[in-house]
Amino acid sequence: MHPAFRHDSSRVMHFHTSRTDRTYYLRTFGCQMNEHDSERISGLMQGLGYAQADTPDEGDVLLYNTCSIREKADTRLIGHLGHARRLKADDPQRLVVVAGCLAQSRQAEFFQEHPYVDVLVGPQSLHLLPALLEERAVTGRQVGAFEESTSTWSAELPRVRRSGPLAWIQIMTGCSNFCSYCIVPYVRGPEASRPLGHIVDEATELATQGVREVTLLGQNVNAYGLELGVRGVSTFPGLLEALSEVSGLERIRFMTSHPKDVSPALIDAMAGLPSVCEHLHLPVQSGSDRVLRLMERRYDRAGYLDLVDRLRAAAPGLALTTDLIIGFPSETEHDFDETVGLVEAVRFDGAFTFQYSPRSRTAAAELPGRVDPVTLEARMRRLVETTQRLGAERNAQLVGSCVEVLVEGCSRRDADTMMGRTRTHKVVNFRAAHPVEPGDLVEVTIQSSSSTSLTGVSESPAVPGSRAGTTTRPTTRSPSPEAL
Ligand code: 5AD
Ligand code: SF4
Repeated sequence: MHPAFRHDSSRVMHFHTSRTDRTYYLRTFGCQMNEHDSERISGLMQGLGYAQADTPDEGDVLLYNTCSIREKADTRLIGHLGHARRLKADDPQRLVVVAGCLAQSRQAEFFQEHPYVDVLVGPQSLHLLPALLEERAVTGRQVGAFEESTSTWSAELPRVRRSGPLAWIQIMTGCSNFCSYCIVPYVRGPEASRPLGHIVDEATELATQGVREVTLLGQNVNAYGLELGVRGVSTFPGLLEALSEVSGLERIRFMTSHPKDVSPALIDAMAGLPSVCEHLHLPVQSGSDRVLRLMERRYDRAGYLDLVDRLRAAAPGLALTTDLIIGFPSETEHDFDETVGLVEAVRFDGAFTFQYSPRSRTAAAELPGRVDPVTLEARMRRLVETTQRLGAERNAQLVGSCVEVLVEGCSRRDADTMMGRTRTHKVVNFRAAHPVEPGDLVEVTIQSSSSTSLTGVSESPAVPGSRAGTTTRPTTRSPSPEAL
């Protein structure tokens, strides 16, 4: 690596002061993990005395926390960087920082293509950001840090969180699965689990601040504790059990789970722990065994369907969402039909559909048989139509039922309408006949639905603490357990 691109900790001096007239602008791309890392970036910047600016034009330091999972993410960033380059040309004192997965995957090459970028910092090196800014100021050179695996948990850094009843907690970092299409293991390093005690302490602290619902984050959360060396010390079901003891936490969610790591103990935990929500995001990617093998997913169609049956038998009312990739190299019409057939069989509550995007260094990028764009478009239309229709049908079955909603705030469209989510992670917009605050649990009778949300009215607060009172209860019309 060119020496200019390596962080040199011996050069760090005490350059930063607590001036409050300096500002930073932060734009985040990609997944919830990146959103969460951005809370830590904000924490570090505010610790250095910078205040957050709403627009890039107002920022002295312009930070972009990037994603590299699909090519689309790269092209979106380029537009934003073009603006940053112009702003820096107007005021050369401005600093441009590119953080996250794209910084990690491109490193020196990125600096060459974008000479106006001052600092690059990979997702495992966020803790070095203050030192990198300082080094840049002292040396005037482009500087970067690209640790391969976590030495300091970003979860242990200061954070700036939007206040409210919801919070994220990072429980692991990296991924060791190497699905053949995916760049994540290359940019976020191998799986590493955060110590259970640290996670419970963070959850306890968040609960004392008024947080009612936490989402446990990781690329492969249900492999928590399974990596070499810590096996058997604590596992994901054990973590859920420990967190369900935290007083004040009404709801626990987690994402993302890999089907191969859903253990019988996890199914039992989902069925038995009252604060663990009845929602599982379980990416299937494809319904074709041939494609699943090429993807190196390590389960097959029958195994996935069997898992869904076992989950639904143990946790009635469970909502299932998924990720699907279309146009994986060599995907035939028959393979695609198998995917649509699986989606129809499972009747997912929601799905994210992605066109396959070749990523450098991944095994699939070398595979022959690119699907042509016209076929891709047609497959995408058919899959989106199918997932939306199924989502709409499942939501329509909730009309007339009464659901527990955790209030998040006002609806975006109408200040008199409140917005919250069910335990199954469905958005509910509702009017209330009683005073309602963010963080309250309320009972909402569902009056109408679309493929993505529910609308209703609340006559009363909910009674927390009893699972029977927190899943959907039919009132005027009886939804089938499948619909919940
Ligand atoms: N092309 C398309 N989709 C991808 N995903 C990951 N890598 C790629 C890729 N190269 C999708 C998967 C994953 C989700 C987060 O992004 O569906 O579950
Ligand atoms: Fe990527 Fe597969 Fe890991 Fe998910 S499990 S982050 S798709 S390698």
